[in-house]
Amino acid sequence: MRRSDLPDGFVVGTATASYQIEGATREDGRGDSIWDTFARVPGAIADGTTGDVADDHYHRSAEDVALMGDLGFDAYRFSIAWPRIQADGRGTPNKAGIDFYRRLAESLLERGVTPWATLYHWDLPQALEDRGGWLERDTALRFADYAHEVADRLGDVVTDWITLNEPWCSAFLGYASGHHAPGRTLGSRSAHAAHHLLLGHGLALEALRDTRPEARVGTTLNLYSVRPAGDSEGDADAARRIDGLSNRFFLDPVLRGSYPADVLDDLGETEWFAENATDDDLRRISAPIDFLGINYYSRHTVASGSVPGPDAPASAYPGSEHVRFIQTGAPVTQMGWEIHPDGMVDVLRQAHELAPDLPLYITENGAAYPDRVDADGEIDDPARVDYLQAHFEAARDAVDAGLPLQGYFIWSLMDNWEWAWGYSRRFGIVHVDYDTQKRTPKRSARWVADFLRS
Ligand code: FCB
Repeated sequence: MRRSDLPDGFVVGTATASYQIEGATREDGRGDSIWDTFARVPGAIADGTTGDVADDHYHRSAEDVALMGDLGFDAYRFSIAWPRIQADGRGTPNKAGIDFYRRLAESLLERGVTPWATLYHWDLPQALEDRGGWLERDTALRFADYAHEVADRLGDVVTDWITLNEPWCSAFLGYASGHHAPGRTLGSRSAHAAHHLLLGHGLALEALRDTRPEARVGTTLNLYSVRPAGDSEGDADAARRIDGLSNRFFLDPVLRGSYPADVLDDLGETEWFAENATDDDLRRISAPIDFLGINYYSRHTVASGSVPGPDAPASAYPGSEHVRFIQTGAPVTQMGWEIHPDGMVDVLRQAHELAPDLPLYITENGAAYPDRVDADGEIDDPARVDYLQAHFEAARDAVDAGLPLQGYFIWSLMDNWEWAWGYSRRFGIVHVDYDTQKRTPKRSARWVADFLRS
């Protein structure tokens, strides 16, 4: 496959997130985020590390931008660390934080790389978590205020905005399973966090539109292709539940203005939503967006099982604890995520059916593998090349099938701090030596550069 198999104007970019790459967590007036706190909880992170230094991108952004320019990317999706802009989640923006992202955006534009900014890729100011975090409606209002300040100060150099990254993870890994910051295990109450995140999206969208009418605004959901393991009724119900909580619980409010009743019922949250998710909230959440971002990594094959006992670890699928996720034997990446490129077409189609005119972008897709640096200092990662190639082909298939897919972003530009996995999982097409901060393009990066020129 060649780049010319994709339509003219199709955007090929790469993505990162602030806490995973920036480091410099205590510099220039940045406040603590929930991840600074969570990474210090014993046992929370597989290798016991933090993002204090990460890729030191805060001091090396010029080099990283040059690298993206050299590789030939059209666009770069980065995220803005809210606590760099408002240390406590409120008030006058911190000039040093704004200046950092302004320099970043300007240097990208100089290299012909379009900046795409995500406003929230999980680093909630700790001060807001101390007041209840996303369980509190007020956090959504604070988020809108932050969105306004950022758009006001950076809207001349950034046009493409993503409000949230993967609210499913923020709500259900953050407040149900506790695998992510803030590490709470509240069962179905985590769904209240999901509603406030979505309300935050709606209010931020409004703020961006008011502040910068020329902005293009979307949001990013992590979607999975979900299918039942067998043809029993129980397995069909398991698939309905997991598709419900992972996909429809976010797609429906954003694209249709309602929450799926069956999912509220699974969660036992019908009453709370009837009282708190008002028509006004849903009108805001479903206000027209310019595009939908989808992060696609894998598919889920699910079956019905028995309800786990009281000592079972907290689930990321409250109300559906009996669902079993089946390993089908298909190849997986180092994360254990099944490789299923066709699933990317499935999730694009699912979104498209709800909003036929809405442009779609894959805002993340990529793979972790245990890379080795060979004696010549090269990193040969053929499995990642295969993974990326197969997903570029899926992107072409989606376009050929008439789906309005307009771009694709590789996760990730460079190896970085992979949340609960710390530095033990490498997703980059560029290798990072964490002792020296040396960046070395892997074979996959050279493959991508050739692809972009082809
Ligand atoms: C996504 C996150 C991103 C990265 C990839 C591997 O869920 O948005 O930050 O961790 O997974």
